[in-house]
This record gives sequence, structure tokens and C-alpha cells, in this order.
Amino acid sequence: MPVPRRVVLSGDHTTGPLHLGHYAGSLKARVALQHHADQVLLLADLQALTDNAGRHHKVAANVVEVALDYLAVGIDPALSTIVVQSQVPELAELTMLLMNLVTVSRLERNPTIKEEIRLRGFERDMPAGFLVYPVSQAADITAFQATVVPVGNDQLPMIEQTNELVRSFNASVGADVLVECAALLSSVPRLPGLDGKAKMSKSLGNAIALAASPDEIRAAVRSMYTDPKHLRVDEPGTVEGNVVFAFFDAFETDTGRVEQLKTHYRRGGLGDSKLKRELEDRLQSLMAPIRERRARFGDDRAAVLSMLAQGTRRGRERAASTLGAVKRALGLAYFA
Ligand code: TRP
Repeated sequence: MPVPRRVVLSGDHTTGPLHLGHYAGSLKARVALQHHADQVLLLADLQALTDNAGRHHKVAANVVEVALDYLAVGIDPALSTIVVQSQVPELAELTMLLMNLVTVSRLERNPTIKEEIRLRGFERDMPAGFLVYPVSQAADITAFQATVVPVGNDQLPMIEQTNELVRSFNASVGADVLVECAALLSSVPRLPGLDGKAKMSKSLGNAIALAASPDEIRAAVRSMYTDPKHLRVDEPGTVEGNVVFAFFDAFETDTGRVEQLKTHYRRGGLGDSKLKRELEDRLQSLMAPIRERRARFGDDRAAVLSMLAQGTRRGRERAASTLGAVKRALGLAYFA
């Protein structure tokens, strides 16, 4: 009998096109993973709405943009199932059922939510949908019966909360209907922003979009934060916290070359502009094929939409089967 393949689920908010931070942190791994696992990629437009009320046009418009980013980096819809969250009503229904198994205070204790409330200034006026988005994420994960969820550190509380809900649901119906999942922690360090801030983010204006033009890439590399104390070429420079080196670490596959550059920089005699020129070359050659593929897929939006409709249909069948089992277990299958 064939060994059942792991179901791996990850997702992205559709609030804007993806950037190099996404590529280094998750997209690259997903491209590799799709050959070895049953991979579901969720375009999480519903979840994006939980902190974008009123910006629904932006959220909707970026569904295709993120899909284009997936295709551009090499996600193959024949290997990965790309699902548009809002078009799978079973996810909303499962969310509704799971919400009864968690308390408001437990949600408020979720460290990710806590931090996000602070960042968004939601202390006084929090949309109710935002507070329960961990439940919606648990519904996403369990509906597709995902057993592996690739995450960064910040998402670990979501996995914990999901598994609590799974145990609590299974205990309440006395059967193993939902499946627990495990986090797959990313081993790559988070790519910093161009300004040296810990996180590359479009909203912080310190990102390089995957679709960036050659000129934008050049300007971005030139603006990168290096070592502010490294004023003269012949003086020693600091590698730690230097964005250029974080990028070399992330994108230069010749690690020997990276070590060479670090040694030279630390010793003195390697200027920032020379170093940046080499990084720029590396990024231009990495990103040119991504940009070209993205443009090619972008020329045929109808084909992208039909690919998304197909993936969503496949995803919906799976979610419906889980939801059916959930409703039967709860005795809610009156007319079956
Ligand atoms: N919350 C995730 C993020 O911000 C996105 C997401 C939504 C997700 N649903 C998911 C990730 C289900 C994994 C599984 O990155």
C-alpha cells in the first residue's frame, strides 16, 4: 500500500504582492516541498479582511497578484493545490462550529494576537473577526486535514491553539474526527528590511517586490543599510546587522564566496559600493527569470483565474468532506 503523503498547508494574506522576504522565508521551500508532499496553498483573503475592514477592494485585487507570485517562483498548480479561502464556505462554517470550543480570554492570551492587537492599535476597538482569526486558521488547517504547517516562530501559538481545538472537538464528540498538526519550523533566518529593521514588509516600505524592475532592484540595493561606522574603504567593517550580508547569506549559494567577502570586509579594504555591486548582480540574475515568468502569466489573467477556480474546487471537495464528518459527529446531519 502506498504511504499516504503528508498534507502540508501554508497560506498568505492577499494584501499585496509578495516580496523577497517571502521568497527567502517560505516560497523557496514550498517550491521544493511540492514534489514530496500534498501541498495546499491558501490565498487567505478572508483572514486578510479581519484587519482590513473597508479595504476589501485591495484584498480582493491582490488574490491574483499573490497567485502570480506563486507561479512566478515556480509553484506548479499540477503539484500544489492553490485555494482561494473566501470561495470555500465550508471553512467559514467550520470556524463557526469551532468558535464554541474556545473562550474569549483564551484568544486574548494568544501571544501572536496580543502582539498584533498592539501593532494595529486594536486595544480599544478590535473587530470581533480579528480576535477569532486563530479559530478560522484552525478551521483552514483541520478542514484540509493538514498534518504539517510550515511556520515562522511568530505563528507557533496558532498551531498550539489549533491542536487545542482539535483535542477539545474530538473529546466532545468522542471520536478522532479532526487531525492534529505539527509545525514545521523554518530554519532560515528572517530576511531583514532594506533599512535594517528586523522584518521586511511592504507596509514598512523596506521591501523588494518579487516583481521589482531591474532599476528598482538597483535602487533598493544602493539604499541598503550597511555598517554606519564603516566610513572609509580601508577601515574594518561589521558584518553583523549589515543588511547586505544578510542578503548574501540568503541568496548567494556559493557560501565560500560569502565567507571570503565577510573576511575581507572585516579586515578592511572592501568598500560598500563594490560589495553592493556584487549583491546587485546576484539579485538581478535571481530575479530576472521570476519577473519574466510573472509577466508571462500576467498576460493571461483568464488562465490564472481558471487555474485558481480549479484548485479551489479541489480544495472545496476536501473541506466539504471534513465538514460533513464534523456535522455528522455533532448530530447536525438532519436530512442526510
Ligand atoms: N496566518 C498566516 C500568516 O499570516 C496565513 C494563514 C492563513 C495560514 N490560514 C493559514 C497559514 C493556514 C497556515 C495555515 O502567514
